[in-house]
Parts: sequence; C-alpha cells; structure tokens
Amino acid sequence: MSSKPILRLGTIKSVHGFQAHLRSLHLTIPLDHELVTGPESPLRQPLVSGDIKIGNRIVVHPMEGWDGSPDGNPSPNTIRRWQRFGRSGAKLIWGGEAVAVSHEARANPNQLVAAAHTQAGLSQLRATLLEEHRLTTGSDDGLLIGLQLTDSGRYSRPNAHGRPEPRILYHHPFLDRRLGLPADFPVLTDAEIQVIIENFLRAALMAWNLGFDFVDVKHCHGYLGHEFLSAHTRPGRYGGSFENRTRFLREVVPGIRSIAPGLKIAVRLSAIDSVPFHPDPAQSSNGNLGPGIPESHESNIPYRWGFGVNPLDPTQSDLNEPVRFLSLLEELGIRLVNITAGSPYYNPHLQRPALYPPSDGYLPPEDPLVSVARQMDATKRLKQQFQDLIFVGTGYSYLQDFLPHVAQAAIREGWVDMVGLGRMVLSYPGLLWDASGGHAIQRKLICRTFSDCTTAPRKGLPSGCYPLDSFYKDSESMTQLTIAKKS
Ligand SMILES: Cc1cc2nc3c(=O)[nH]c(=O)nc-3n(C[C@H](O)[C@H](O)[C@H](O)COP(=O)(O)O)c2cc1C
Ligand code: SF4
Repeated sequence: MSSKPILRLGTIKSVHGFQAHLRSLHLTIPLDHELVTGPESPLRQPLVSGDIKIGNRIVVHPMEGWDGSPDGNPSPNTIRRWQRFGRSGAKLIWGGEAVAVSHEARANPNQLVAAAHTQAGLSQLRATLLEEHRLTTGSDDGLLIGLQLTDSGRYSRPNAHGRPEPRILYHHPFLDRRLGLPADFPVLTDAEIQVIIENFLRAALMAWNLGFDFVDVKHCHGYLGHEFLSAHTRPGRYGGSFENRTRFLREVVPGIRSIAPGLKIAVRLSAIDSVPFHPDPAQSSNGNLGPGIPESHESNIPYRWGFGVNPLDPTQSDLNEPVRFLSLLEELGIRLVNITAGSPYYNPHLQRPALYPPSDGYLPPEDPLVSVARQMDATKRLKQQFQDLIFVGTGYSYLQDFLPHVAQAAIREGWVDMVGLGRMVLSYPGLLWDASGGHAIQRKLICRTFSDCTTAPRKGLPSGCYPLDSFYKDSESMTQLTIAKKS
C-alpha cells in the first residue's frame, strides 16, 4: 500500500471533490452528481422479473444479532432492530439477520435459532417490520422479507462467547491454526451433513409457515455453506469436484421445494476471496494493530482452500468458479443473488471496507475505497454474464455521504439491480429512502465505519451502532464497550 494517508471521506465536501478523489486513486466507480427524487429515482423503480416483484431497489442486508435470548428467541433489542429495518423503506429485506438452523449451528450464544419454540418470536419480528414498513412507505406492495438460514460451521460458538466449537469440513492450513485445531480434529461426516441438510429443510418450512417470502441458503463469509465451496481437499461425496462441493446446495434446494413449494430460495455468495490476512507484526506494537498482510502462502501453491480465489496467486480473486456457481443457480431456478466477498474472520477489509478496524482485525492494507470498488466490479462483471438473475450489491456503507450518488448511478448504469446496506442501516436506516425521496440527509447519522458494531459483539455485547445510535448513548453496554476497547 502507498504510504499516503487514507483520506477520510467525511472531509470531502462535494460530489466533484469525491470524483476527483476517485480519479486520484485510479478507481472506476459509477457516480451521479445529482440525485433524482420521487418516483423517477432509479432507487425507487420497481423490479419485476417473472414471479418476483420488488417495489424498489433498496435492500437491507442480513446482520447477525448478538442479543437474542439463550434459547434463540428475539429480545426487545432484536425487535427494535427489525423495527428500524422496516423504517428503512427497503422493499427487499435479505433475512434481517442470520438465523441458525440448530443450536449447535449458532455463531454466538445469542444468535436467533429456527426452532419450534422460537416460531412466535420470529413471526413477531416479521410483523413488526411489516408494520413499520407500512408506516414509512404507505403500503407493503412489493415488499419481500426473507430469512437468512445459516450453519456457522467453522465459526460456531453456540454456548459461550469465548468458546469456539468449530464444525469443519476439511483441514485448512491457516484457519485451523487460528482456532488451535490439532491435525486429528474431526471433520463433519457425510452422515452429520445429512442431519444439517434436514435442519435447513425444517427451518425453511418454518419460514414458509410463518409467511416469509424467501430463505437465503447462505454461502458466504466462511460459514458452512461457503466452506463447502472450497472443500477441494475433502474426500467423498461433499468434496473435491465442483459437483461434489455444490452437492449440499443441490440437495437442500429440491428438499425445500418438495415441502414448501411456494417459498422462494435465494443465495448470498462470497464470490471473491483471498488467502487470510493478519496484522503485520513488524508494524504492530503496544496493542496497536498494524496493516493487514496476507499469510505467507508460497508453500501452499496451487492454493486449494479457497473459492473465487486464484490458485496460483491467492491474494487475487478468480471468477471462473463463481460463474459456474451462478450457472448452477440458474439451473436450480434460483433468481435472487446477493454478492459479497471474503469473510469477517480472515479478510475483513475485503468483506466490510472500513477506516477503523474491529478489535480482531488490522489496519486497512489498501484504501477502503479500493475494496469497495473491487466488490462492485466483481458484481458488475457477474451481472453482465447473468442478465436474468437479480443481483444485490454489497460493500456500499464505506461510501458514506456519497453512497446515494453511487447507488443511484450503479443501478442506472446496470452494474447491479439493487443496492444493499449493512452497517449504514444500523446507524441510519432511512438514508436511501431520504435521498430518493428528496428529504434532507441527516449527516450526523452517517456510518463512518468505526467498526464498533463488529467489535462489541466480539466482546460479547449486544449488536448495534454504539457511536451514532442515541439508544446506546448512556447504556450499560456503551460503558462496557469503552472498557473492553481500553483493555
Ligand atoms: C454487525 C454485523 C453483522 C453482520 N452479520 C451478517 C450476517 O448475519 N449475515 C451476512 O450475510 N452478513 C452479515 N454481515 C455483513 C453485512 O451484511 C455486509 O455484507 C457488510 O457489512 C458490508 O456491507 P456494508 O458496507 O453496507 O456494511 C454483518 C455485518 C455487520 C457489520
Ligand atoms: S458502529 Fe456504527 S458507525 Fe461504526 S461501523 Fe458500525 S454502523 Fe458504522
């Protein structure tokens, strides 16, 4: 990375200034100088494709909750978050948050679980969102609400925040070491995979019975669905060939269709990835994290532990297999695709570009705008090849004040069909609704990528935007976060 300091976007005062900044970084990101408001806004255009009707182009990405009850039910904090999702004006709610298909599949002990005893709670989340959405937009026409179904696999922590209970598909040269897994640590058996598939089907049926429009069979961020795709070294039915590595999805999809025929199926995919990163030890001192550098991988070439990764240079992405995967989605009749990148655990700069790292991350190894451009470019290239799929784009929150200008241009120019918001929804749920409705933008609510919403849960605290959501201002959790960050 160049030694030039990263320019804080909050200091750029105009769209022209932002454009000049992009030019100085040699980045191509679509950018509209004027925002169109009202029904003509590209962000407010309905999307109709076959039997899918979505009322506008604004999406709420799933964001894992760390504030459910120990039995997997929503808490008042969870309900409040879903209320805010409803206020976003988004007509596509991509799952709200990852919901574990079983207790052992949870990424944290307070993650929601799809189970008989949580049905009423999950139903309440949907109803709350629906009500707030109607109040904000005037109608629930064209509103699609999904549940993101997950098994956390390698990143399962169902019983205690500090106690990983990984369930892995194969041994990984770098990620095993991070979890302290010995060489003989057991991998999931094919029989255990069958049980997991049954759990996905049961959870999907529940979602259908509760009135959700779709389920996302999650294939991103290093969790189990994503790990299947990189199981090159796993022997047997679920590893090795592309066919075997996609068998999990190819078994889940017809299974869901047979029991919940009207339920739509979607997939969130980490389409690009890299070898894991860690803070540069030579530049880390006194608890201060250095910039991220890739793990030394010279002895691991060709690299056989990634998906969407160039096997000869795993610091670079490779879209060959993701293209095959999207062809498979088409064959399976899956139309809704949400493109994301990497993993929050091993290359967060790729996955959620940020100026300030989370406590277990590293300083940005590149200008975060480069990371944004990379995700946008991969999505654009995939969209160009799969015109019939509906693409949701990711990684926009870092764009801050210029997010609406980029989102509008990206849709107008066909880089993507819909723009999803992650962190920005925690700080300012209505940003795109305000921007496309001609309402004043509330700059004080714009996410500045402080990463507290990632750091806090890592410390076992509830989810949320601590710096900008006044709800947390004087809360006990805020005090705990401050102490945790100092220690
Ligand atoms: C606190 C937090 C929790 C997240 N949980 C999930 C999740 O459950 N499922 C998922 O697919 N992505 C999850 N993500 C990733 C976001 O959906 C999104 O991809 C990422 O934040 C980048 O988008 P952004 O730039 O708009 O924030 C999470 C992100 C954050 C900040
Ligand atoms: S804590 Fe708030 S400001 Fe910081 S990254 Fe998360 S949403 Fe953005």
